[in-house]
Amino acid sequence: MLTEVTATRYVTPLREGGSLPGLVEADDLLPYVMKFTGAGQGRKTLVAEVICGQLARRLGFRVPELVALDLDPVIGLGEPDPEVQGLLKGSGGTNLGMRFLPRALGFDPLAYAVDPVQAGRVVWFDALVNNVDRSWRNPNMLVRDGGLWLIDHGASMIWHHNWRGAAAWATKPYDATDHALARFEPDVAAAAAELAPRVTEELIAEAAADVPDVWLADEPGFDTPDAVRRAYVETLLERATGIHERIELPKAAPRATARTSGWIMYEGAGR
Ligand SMILES: Nc1ncnc2c1ncn2[C@@H]1O[C@H](COP(=O)(O)OP(=O)(O)OP(=O)(O)O)[C@@H](O)[C@H]1O
Ligand SMILES: [Mg+2]
Repeated sequence: MLTEVTATRYVTPLREGGSLPGLVEADDLLPYVMKFTGAGQGRKTLVAEVICGQLARRLGFRVPELVALDLDPVIGLGEPDPEVQGLLKGSGGTNLGMRFLPRALGFDPLAYAVDPVQAGRVVWFDALVNNVDRSWRNPNMLVRDGGLWLIDHGASMIWHHNWRGAAAWATKPYDATDHALARFEPDVAAAAAELAPRVTEELIAEAAADVPDVWLADEPGFDTPDAVRRAYVETLLERATGIHERIELPKAAPRATARTSGWIMYEGAGR
């Protein structure tokens, strides 16, 4: 289960996010990036955030802490922006919170180099969950103190929009040609050797157990939230086996290689 906190103050919208996430303060006095159940993308985006975020953390990636963030829509009444007010009013109850990382910069593949092993791990993980939202246009990674953090897994696991076709996704390829880390010669074979054996039924089930029941209730074709959780586990487990052989990387010569991760220093910089 995720830790449960309650939003006490809406601070500001994060306008760079397509779903209009908001920065809020909660009753534990900590700042969170809040993703709303009432956003156009719907609650499945939040389910994907939890399963993928919790799984990634268990595999050793840095992911800001996720919490179940309770919202009293009354908070929205004083909000001057009608779009924000509508979002708050339509999102009463359990929403998703991600610990806000202060001092973090958005990852930029031209400014920050990633070594092939780390790049391979991220690309392999994104292939597993079929994350289509980690491109060089929209990297959805943050850098703080030299470490790479993964955020925003809402556009993963597309198969949960049509469960009847989910089984076919076990063998579908992953197009990584536009991936933000494609230019760093990602070593996906090494990543698969390390990570695939760790993606067990138990590990995925632990991540799925963290999804609040209310986001899984009334899913067509399933009797209980646990039945939906099992469907996530089965699809991801199947996909883990051979996904690295189906990752499509750019054919052209790689544009950048890096032995170690870190900021790229440009000639003349700092003078
Ligand atoms: N935990 C965090 N700490 C600091 N900044 C964050 C955090 N989460 C998100 N942000 C900032 O807010 C932006 C929007 O967040 P996010 O990408 O999760 O939203 P989204 O609506 O799903 O975005 P997208 O447009 O990619 O679909 C990020 O690009 C980042 O700049
Ligand atoms: Mg984003």
